[in-house]
Amino acid sequence: MTGASGSPFGVRVLEELSKTAEVHLVISSNSFSIIRDETGLDWAENTESAVREHCGSDRIFFHEDRRMEAPIASGSFRIDGMMVVPCSMKTLAGIAAGYAANLIERAADVTLKERRPLLLSPREMPFSALHLENMLKLARLGVVIAPPVPAFYHLSGHLSEHKPAGLEEMVNFIAGKILDTFGVEHTLFRRWGS
Ligand SMILES: Cc1cc2nc3c(=O)[nH]c(=O)nc-3n(C[C@H](O)[C@H](O)[C@H](O)COP(=O)(O)O)c2cc1C
Repeated sequence: MTGASGSPFGVRVLEELSKTAEVHLVISSNSFSIIRDETGLDWAENTESAVREHCGSDRIFFHEDRRMEAPIASGSFRIDGMMVVPCSMKTLAGIAAGYAANLIERAADVTLKERRPLLLSPREMPFSALHLENMLKLARLGVVIAPPVPAFYHLSGHLSEHKPAGLEEMVNFIAGKILDTFGVEHTLFRRWGS
């Protein structure tokens, strides 16, 4: 998780992912205050136990973003893939440039060189040409660029049990779409046609 707005998306993805997967979590030092402001979750101290307690999972391993000796900094450590949710423009630029200045950028660099799945959920509004160029560069390398862009079709009356549908459903939809790209089972939203 990095210091873009949109931490509720990252938290929801983490909650779901940790139900079945072993998760190596890095929270950039810049994003702790944003997570606190946007979700009320204060994970700055004793992060691993706080996150495990929140998610009800002991499959989460937390690494500080300056801890370059963490397992995920090496390609020899096997992972199924990596997600950056939300992804700041700074981290996006670092990954696009191969500038592995912290553990998140290094782990992404490793994921790319090992040709493993990488997903970024970049959040900014509006995007500059520089942001878009960085995204295009990475998309051409096979990176999934999945910004938290809301849809509304899943909120329509015949699918939603209560109206007006709220932010919670919006968060679930985006988190679910992100999990879909990795084939992670979830029931965060009802599928169109189901
Ligand atoms: C409240 C707040 C919201 C922010 N939202 C965004 C955002 O949506 N997108 C973005 O690229 N940067 C955003 N930033 C700026 C980043 O946090 C900043 O560029 C930081 O250096 C990112 O570092 P990191 O990628 O290592 O977390 C925000 C900063 C603050 C304080």
